Amino acid sequence: MWQESTDPRLGYGTAGFLQAMAELGHGFFLPDKESPVKAEETRSRDVGAAPIAPVSGACPGPNGGGSGESGRLEANGAAAPGRVTLERVRASEEVEHYIERANEILGTVGYTEHGRRHHSLCARRAREILEQLGRPQRVCELGEIAAYLHDIGNIVNRNGHAHSGALLAHSILCGMGMPVNEVTEIIAAIGHHDEADGFPVNAISAAVILADKSDVHRSRVRETSTINFDIHDRVNYAATRSVLSVETRGSEMEQAADEAEVKCPVAGLITLHLTIDTSISPVMEYFEIFLPRMILSRRAAEKLSCVYKLQVNGAEFL
Ligand SMILES: [Fe+2]
Repeated sequence: MWQESTDPRLGYGTAGFLQAMAELGHGFFLPDKESPVKAEETRSRDVGAAPIAPVSGACPGPNGGGSGESGRLEANGAAAPGRVTLERVRASEEVEHYIERANEILGTVGYTEHGRRHHSLCARRAREILEQLGRPQRVCELGEIAAYLHDIGNIVNRNGHAHSGALLAHSILCGMGMPVNEVTEIIAAIGHHDEADGFPVNAISAAVILADKSDVHRSRVRETSTINFDIHDRVNYAATRSVLSVETRGSEMEQAADEAEVKCPVAGLITLHLTIDTSISPVMEYFEIFLPRMILSRRAAEKLSCVYKLQVNGAEFL
């Protein structure tokens, strides 16, 4: 984990770049690189690997009392009345106001679109990732809720938005009566989604990271007149297609695992397919600004026992 400036608009400097290249396996020594063995140990503690059972200790409800009953599942796994779902979260005026206003505020300071489009896309992708890897239904639901809420902290400030967003989500979800063990996994995922200081701490977190970092697209650029002097706008505007695929079997996945020298069993291959208009931005600019995101995405894939690949214009880069 490098310690240099983490503002995505400022870049990472030479030392950060060298460390990033080392983590991507380009021949530089990196003492804290996670070994396959360590990764396997981490996976064995993965709370997302098993259904999340409700616990009796629940969040304080909207009036300060425990309200965990409303988030319980029936014995057959069917939704009990009051179960917190993405639909309920989306219906919250508080949530929608945070997302809308945060998006407006980010616009005033020059960031790309972070509105309902981004949150909805991330929610859908996070759920699809978990579903395709066979995770339990409730884990998939928690993944999409976490992804839908992951950027609400921008209402406070871009700096530290993952942390403030986690606290906001805690308040919102506890107010809805979600069991504390579910809230815990969601706020951990939100608090660890940013490449500045994030890490895939559970399966939900990994899915949120992969979904969030895959959303590179020209539709996120608010003002095309900025693309000549703003590299983030230029790279996003150059991205005309962004698709995240998950393959869970087949020779291509096994070959990818061999190439990545993964020693432990691999559950799948997660690939980000980008189409970049190089007349607008050279591919190198994508790497220049998104290298930390790629590293975090690779770690997230590993958390899900998967290999991460990046294809740009049909060519494989990772
Ligand atoms: Fe995001």
